[in-house]
Formats: sequence, C-alpha cells, structure tokens
Amino acid sequence: MSENPLAAAEPWDLVADGYAEFAPAIMRPFSAHAIELAGLSPESRIVDVAAGTGMLSLLAAPQVQSVQAIDFSEPMLARLRAAAAAAGIGNIEARAGDGQALPFDDDSFDAGFSMFGLMFFPDRAKGFAELFRVLRPGAAAVVSSWAPVAESTLMRMMFGAFTAADPSIQEPEPNFLSLENPEVFETEMRGGGFAGVTIQRHTTVLTFDSPERLWETMARSSAPLLLMRRDVGEQVWAERVAVMREYLAANYRPNTPLSTTALLGIGHKPRP
Ligand SMILES: C[S@@+](CC[C@H](N)C(=O)[O-])C[C@H]1O[C@@H](n2cnc3c(N)ncnc32)[C@H](O)[C@@H]1O
Repeated sequence: MSENPLAAAEPWDLVADGYAEFAPAIMRPFSAHAIELAGLSPESRIVDVAAGTGMLSLLAAPQVQSVQAIDFSEPMLARLRAAAAAAGIGNIEARAGDGQALPFDDDSFDAGFSMFGLMFFPDRAKGFAELFRVLRPGAAAVVSSWAPVAESTLMRMMFGAFTAADPSIQEPEPNFLSLENPEVFETEMRGGGFAGVTIQRHTTVLTFDSPERLWETMARSSAPLLLMRRDVGEQVWAERVAVMREYLAANYRPNTPLSTTALLGIGHKPRP
C-alpha cells in the first residue's frame, strides 16, 4: 500500500466538483500542449489514463475518432461524462479502472496520455508498462508530472500561505527520486519500453483578478488541501483558512502573473 494518500481514489472523489470547476484554469494549457505533441489525426483512437474530469479527453475528442478515458474515481468520471454531454461530444467512453491494470487489449490505441495521473501511481513502472502495452507500434505517448515547487511561483505563493498557517508545513525540497527529476522520468519511461524519449519543460502563466480568486481557485481544486482540512478538523481549518487568505491578501497583487511548470515525457512504441 502506498503512503501517498493521493494514490487512493477517495480524495479525488471528494474534490471532483471543485476540480471540474476550478482546475481547468491551471491544467488545460498542459493538456492542449500534450495534444499538439502527440500529432493526432481524425482517425486516431486515443487513451487518456487517469483522465479525471476529462481535461485532455474533452479537448482531444473533436480532433480524433474516439477517446477511451479511464480513472479510478467515479465522481471525477461523472463530471467528465456530464461535460461531454453538455458539449455534445459523443466519442468519449469513460470507464472506471486502475491505470496500473488497463482493461484494454494490446496494441489498441494510436496515442496515449496520462496528465498528472501516472505520477501518483504506487507502481509507476506498471503504469508506464501498461500504457506501452495498449499502444500500437509507432504510437506516441505523452505523460506529465509537476516540476519542483521551487520552479513554480504559483506553488511558492501557496506554500507561503500554508507555512503562515502552519509553520510545520514548509516548501518541499525537490524530490530527486520522483518524476520531478527529468533523469528519473526518462529512465522510467524507457523502462516501460518507450523509444525516442524526451522530457520537456512546459510553463504556463496565470493571473488572478484578486487574492480571493487565487485562494478559491487553488483551494477548491486541490485534493491535498481537502485532506489537510479533514486531518485538522473544521475549527482549526477555519483558523488556518483565515491566515492563508490574509497571507495572500498581503502578498498577491491582483493580476500579477504567476507561473507553474510541468515536465512532459514524450516517447513512442517502436515498430518491430
Ligand atoms: C490531478 S488529477 C489529473 C486529472 C486529469 N488528467 C487532468 O489533467 O486534469 C489526477 C487523477 O488521477 C486519478 N488517479 C490517480 N491514481 C489512479 C490510478 N491508479 N488509476 C486510475 N486513476 C488514478 C485520480 O482519480 C485523478 O482523477
């Protein structure tokens, strides 16, 4: 059993509504870039592993033949299905499952993605190997993970607020054993069988029209914050929220750009 609470479905189940509403502002540009990198065509059949509320699936669907979206959180999938229906998109099939044991035959897809999903798997090697297995030879895969917090002014701003509310929470050091480290990322993706692997940094810049809007966007879409709230209980949480909002009010000037950086691993399944 993994020690990372985000490797379980429950926090994602609980954050699904807020994620669907507030995460796109942060996450959509990364999915849009991943789609460009994969070189899709109208005939492409694609798989979106750990699809969540469907950021990538919904963007890609109009450009491809079909999308299989898989995630272990039913509430996230429910939001994906609702968004697809609202947009009149009929070529996404969303189903519940574990990204470490994909319910698809070998060689089924023309491209595969896992945006900020595989990074949470307790067995990432299995995640890469499964993504590889279900792609046809020649197909491309794009997998994303966050760069270290120190590279993201958005995350640094948020950690400033967390530390103000609870000094035991400090900005994390880069984790050189995780996909934050491009060498680890490349080695693990190659280990899954992928060829031609490159790891690219991709940065997006966001602005918020007020510190309140910044707080709302981050707090409502964040599974880690939801877990923190549950751990400390409602009374302590309310006190902490007040301190965090105060911190942001003092430190964020409306419309100041804040950046966030991801690493995108790109590779393909070699032809025999
Ligand atoms: C940060 S969200 C990313 C969602 C979406 N790909 C995006 O870019 O917005 C992480 C997603 O990974 C899913 N997830 C985590 N571990 C999983 C696993 N082992 N199998 C399937 N889904 C998983 C969670 O349920 C959640 O929807």
